[in-house]
Amino acid sequence: MSNEAQKDFWNGPAGDVWVEAQGYMDQILAPLSELATTHAASQANERAIDVGCGCGATTFAFADSGCAVWGVDISEPMLAKAKERAKEQGIENVAFSVTDAASQDYTPDHDIVFSRFGVMFFDDPKAAFH
Ligand SMILES: C[S@@+](CC[C@H](N)C(=O)[O-])C[C@H]1O[C@@H](n2cnc3c(N)ncnc32)[C@H](O)[C@@H]1O
Repeated sequence: MSNEAQKDFWNGPAGDVWVEAQGYMDQILAPLSELATTHAASQANERAIDVGCGCGATTFAFADSGCAVWGVDISEPMLAKAKERAKEQGIENVAFSVTDAASQDYTPDHDIVFSRFGVMFFDDPKAAFH
């Protein structure tokens, strides 16, 4: 098993803090996200993965272009917030799952793999990115 300490961390106090601070975090990180998501230039017929999607801000940014977005994260409270926001806003081209991004076997049918500060927590980064 890998990333166990991170799973505990993001399902414990850190996850709660990020859920609580979601509006604030999204506000201060918005300039960065806008640059990155604009550069990625997703299209309506594409599929994207948002790694460590947290409460979903960047997942929703990609969804705005019409592409199908899969948000993966190990934090159940943050994913619950992301799902709640998608429901409230009627966003249907997103899916969220509790997934350890570092050990997931990805299929080659995705066009974009994106992350806003979600890929630096892996126990074994070399294996994760292999
Ligand atoms: C700093 S937060 C950023 C959250 C979100 N990307 C944002 O910018 O609001 C890091 C996120 O990475 C997630 N994460 C850490 N390790 C992960 C892993 N192995 N697989 C998937 N998500 C992971 C955490 O649960 C957390 O949601």
